[in-house]
Parts: sequence; structure tokens; C-alpha cells
Amino acid sequence: MTDFSTLRTEVRGRVGWITLDRPEALNALNSTLVRELASAAAAFDADEGIGCIVLTGSDRAFAAGADIKEMETQSSRDMAIDNPFAPLEQFSRVRTPVIAAVAGYALGGGCELAMACDIILAADSARFGQPEVTLGVIPGLGGTQRLPRAVGYYKAAELVLTGRMIDASEAERIGLVSRVVPAADLLTEAETMATAIAAKSLPVIYAAKEALRASQETTAAEGLRFEKQTFAAMFALADQAEGMAAFREKRSPDFTHR
Ligand code: CAA
Repeated sequence: MTDFSTLRTEVRGRVGWITLDRPEALNALNSTLVRELASAAAAFDADEGIGCIVLTGSDRAFAAGADIKEMETQSSRDMAIDNPFAPLEQFSRVRTPVIAAVAGYALGGGCELAMACDIILAADSARFGQPEVTLGVIPGLGGTQRLPRAVGYYKAAELVLTGRMIDASEAERIGLVSRVVPAADLLTEAETMATAIAAKSLPVIYAAKEALRASQETTAAEGLRFEKQTFAAMFALADQAEGMAAFREKRSPDFTHR
């Protein structure tokens, strides 16, 4: 994989790791970082040897938001036409499941980046929030759309309109994160979860993610139709035959990702 200046990548088994690495700015999302992030994720997504991606930051910050110093001088036209955050839309559409392993701050675009992933695992040190109104803007990377879907309108409205930061246990209570673990265990827990996902059949996992995403983007009736068709399509896979034979034969399945 290419050398990146704002993040590190690593492959361990069938898991691709992306570690944001701009410590001087608490991993704030500048245009280089978002471009590199989309590129690293696209490379993992194109690799059949990768069954799950883990996105993480540092102990101090997953990401403290869009880079305010870079954004400050940009115009409305720059944002609308050049759209420096466009690569994050590509990132949010990768087929491979992405686990956000969050320690420290996940604020503004950082919280939105976590919500663009599929599972959010939080260290007990994690802090989430959408403080954009404090800066004279609104969330611009999904905060007004994904947060209400995750936690309900009224809680999301409180967080977006006040800019209040919440701790990991509140984030878990409202359904934003799937689990809170001690900070020292975050990466081990992420690796265990990612390895379990990556051991499954790749086309089945792609299909499961796509159907889950449909639940966020379509009506329930359309989503149910999509799920029914996708479920039927699974019966064309060798891995469906293998998974069910393995159950009958009381052994672990040996998926070939076909
Ligand atoms: N952009 C640029 N630089 C940032 C940054 C950001 N979002 N967040 C932190 N930094 C920089 C700081 O400026 C500081 O750099 P200097 O040492 O050069 O001054 C360095 O990172 C360390 O930060 P602090 O000294 O502020 O650290 P702290 O521990 O005192 O505070 C913090 C941590 C509460 C996270 C605080 O840095 C902060 O409030 N950051 C901004 C959070 C924010 O408002 N995020 C939303 C951004 S807007 C957005 O994301 C829009 C969108 O939806 C697209």
C-alpha cells in the first residue's frame, strides 16, 4: 500500500487496520487525511484477503473533527463546489464492514466519521459530540442524519443544538456505541470482533452490510424487499451450502468466499 502522511495501515490476518496519525491536531480531518483515508479504505475494499477493516486513532483522540484551521478561510463556494470532504462519501460506501475503535475525542466530523462506520466500539475514555453550532456552522458529514437514526430525534436534537459532549457510558446508553471497554483493551477487543467478522463468508458479509445500509436509506417496505431478494441470492453461494452442511455435520464451516 502507498505511504501515507496522515495515517498508518497494517494487515493482520484478514483484518485491515487504519490508524489516524495527526497527533499535532488530534487527528483533525484535513483534506489530505480524508483523501488518504478514502484511498486506504478503497485499497482494503478491493482486496479479497480483507474481510473487515478497523479504523482507530490515538489514546487521546479518534478525531477532534474537521480541521477548523483549514476550514476557517474557505468560502461557501469552496465547500459546495470543491467539497474537500467528498472522499468521506466514498469511505462510507465501502463494501467491507468497518469497526470504529474510538478512544478519546470523537467530535464533529470525528463523531460523524465513527457513524460512517458499521460498528462503534468505545474505550471508557471516549467522548462524543457534535459541537459545530459552537463554531457557527452545522454538522456537515452526516451528524444531522445518522445521529437521529442512531439515537432517536430528541436525543440527537439535544446534542446537535447544544453541542454538548457525552462520555462513553452515555453514548452506550443511547445506542451510539455497541460496547464500552477499558481503554487498555480497546484494540484487542476490536481485533477479536474484526477477526470474527472476517472469518465469515466475504460475499455474505458484503450482502449483510448492504442490507443493513438499506435500512438506513430506504423505506421499510423497500428494505424488506431488498432483504428478501438478497436472502434468496445467498442460496447461489458455495458458502451457503458449506455453512449449512457444517451445521448438520456438527463442525466449523470452511468458507471459500465463493
Ligand atoms: N481542527 C484543527 N485543529 C484542532 C482541532 C480541529 N478540529 N481540534 C484540536 N486541534 C488542535 C488544537 O488547535 C491544538 O493545536 P495547537 O497545539 O497548535 O494549538 C491541538 O490540536 C491540541 O488541541 P487542544 O490544545 O485544544 O487540546 P485540549 O485537550 O485542550 O482540547 C478539544 C481538546 C476539546 C478536542 C479541543 O481541541 C477542541 O475543542 N477541538 C475542536 C473540536 C470541534 O469543535 N470539532 C468540530 C469541528 S467542525 C466539524 O467537524 C464540521 C463538520 O461536521 C464537517
